[in-house]
Amino acid sequence: MKVDSVVDYVTINIDGEDVDVPKGTNIIEAVKMVGKGKEVPHYCYHPKLSIAGNCRMCMVEMGMPMRDRATGEAVLDENGVQKIGWMPKPTIGCATNAAPGMHIRTNSEMVKESRNGVTEFLLINHPLDCPICDQAGECRLQEFSAEHGRGYSRFIEQKNVKPKRTRLGSRVTLDDERCILCSRCIRFSKEIAKDDVLGFVDRGTYSTLTCFPGKELENNYSLNTVDICPVGALTSTDFRFKMRVWFLKRTHSICTESSVGANTEIWSREGKIYRITPRRNDAVNDTWMTDSGRELFKEVEVGDRLTHYTIDGVHKTSAETAAAAAKLLKEGKVAIIASPHSSVEEQFYCKAIADRSEATVSLVSHYGATDGILQSEDRSPNLRGALVNGLVDHLPDADLSAVAQQIESGAVDTLLVVNEEVTQLGISAELLKKVKVIYIGLHANVVSEDAAIVIPSLSVFEKDGSFINQSFRLQRFKAAIPGPRGVLSDFMVLEHIAEALADEKIPSGSIDAAWEHIAKGVSQFDDSLRWRSIPEEGLELDPTAFLDLPFVETKNLKYDSAAFKEAHATPAGA
Ligand code: SF4
Ligand code: FES
Repeated sequence: MKVDSVVDYVTINIDGEDVDVPKGTNIIEAVKMVGKGKEVPHYCYHPKLSIAGNCRMCMVEMGMPMRDRATGEAVLDENGVQKIGWMPKPTIGCATNAAPGMHIRTNSEMVKESRNGVTEFLLINHPLDCPICDQAGECRLQEFSAEHGRGYSRFIEQKNVKPKRTRLGSRVTLDDERCILCSRCIRFSKEIAKDDVLGFVDRGTYSTLTCFPGKELENNYSLNTVDICPVGALTSTDFRFKMRVWFLKRTHSICTESSVGANTEIWSREGKIYRITPRRNDAVNDTWMTDSGRELFKEVEVGDRLTHYTIDGVHKTSAETAAAAAKLLKEGKVAIIASPHSSVEEQFYCKAIADRSEATVSLVSHYGATDGILQSEDRSPNLRGALVNGLVDHLPDADLSAVAQQIESGAVDTLLVVNEEVTQLGISAELLKKVKVIYIGLHANVVSEDAAIVIPSLSVFEKDGSFINQSFRLQRFKAAIPGPRGVLSDFMVLEHIAEALADEKIPSGSIDAAWEHIAKGVSQFDDSLRWRSIPEEGLELDPTAFLDLPFVETKNLKYDSAAFKEAHATPAGA
């Protein structure tokens, strides 16, 4: 039997209002839970890192219900209400945990004066160059200085000069003058990336962040330090000074680097992607992602992108191409090379095409080594999707030698290839010439050159869709930028081919219309589920039907294969 964890709640009083918060919640988080725009300003605290308590910006007043020391009896005021014993000095909210009856003041004169003092102190040596700073628009120091600062400086001495544009690694540049010594980057490198390379040297106002001698910030998570740096000290060497963040549109997406399915945000403007950053999902990636995952959009931009629907090299419309593809599939002995990189929607229609053309379906594995954090062994985002859709019922082979044999023997004379370079996977270019090929892909390659029908594909950044990650969590992604003009989303073309094979009329062509079929056709999905209704944090599916498959993922930040199996195993007799 699965036992839901029980959370203990305690009642505390924040600015005169009683609130129930989970026991052990620190005051920064407790105040956040009150909502109504209430916030305890902070720099060094980060919800996913250890507490350092060094910036002192999160000062609050704290008091506890008074008791008589001798008798233990509650001390009451003249109205019979228990008195609150306020601490004489403010305390830091990040290191104070909620306890029953605790009283907190986040807005008293004493608190305001503390924040004011801390801000003035931080700005003594911080350059006042916000107009040219790359962090403008997302700088906590700038925001809190405006909100909690004095508005003028009493410092007339010479500011400290520290190193500028220091290279910490190939992807991160440090402006030491801007560093407020919060140590978030140091703690991240040590605690999450497990690469203890950063530290402070020198004392007092001369304290400086640096890499340990002979080391560099070169791990595959280095750009997370840029995300969490509350000021403009750490910047992405690639992104710095390219674009003001307030010009950029943010779109929720999913990283396709591996089956982890890290939640991401795509920052784009006028059809161009400028950067990718992680989006918080405590069940998947916390607030982190790999550096390599942030670079994936560049792969789409390079190379010879397919932009036209063609039949025998002649440009056609998508409808003509889909009809021609359906005709080939009807006549031929078909094998489909599907892809674990395709979305749930695309795989659903691949399955429909396979059923209607009596085709065999093969997937190829894309495995690598895990880093134990957010890069899993399965370097495809949606292998689970292929299983849930019923496209395949087993884990993929490493190559396509079985399909190659079928071509040799004449059992297959037509191939539908979805985004796989099959000539590097066991089907030689010579063998490929023996079959009629329908190729759906992003870039031109040997397969598209020989294909009778070519269908251009959209990248994950250009279409809506969903993936199912390593722990069977259905997550949706949205189009951030438009694809090449005239190119339809892949699922629509596949849907057109599937419909043509069954001589059915195509429905509306929207993703939610497609989900009317998908939700009904896939047993793991609720009939009423639509793409739009998949929650932002994803939807956990029932994995029990697949628990016996030998998945390659072992253990990473949020996944442990043994624990996952155990947690979902149905006890005998249940
Ligand atoms: S570089 Fe940024 S994250 Fe690192 S200690 Fe300085 S202010 Fe904090
Ligand atoms: S956030 Fe509490 S001391 Fe920095």
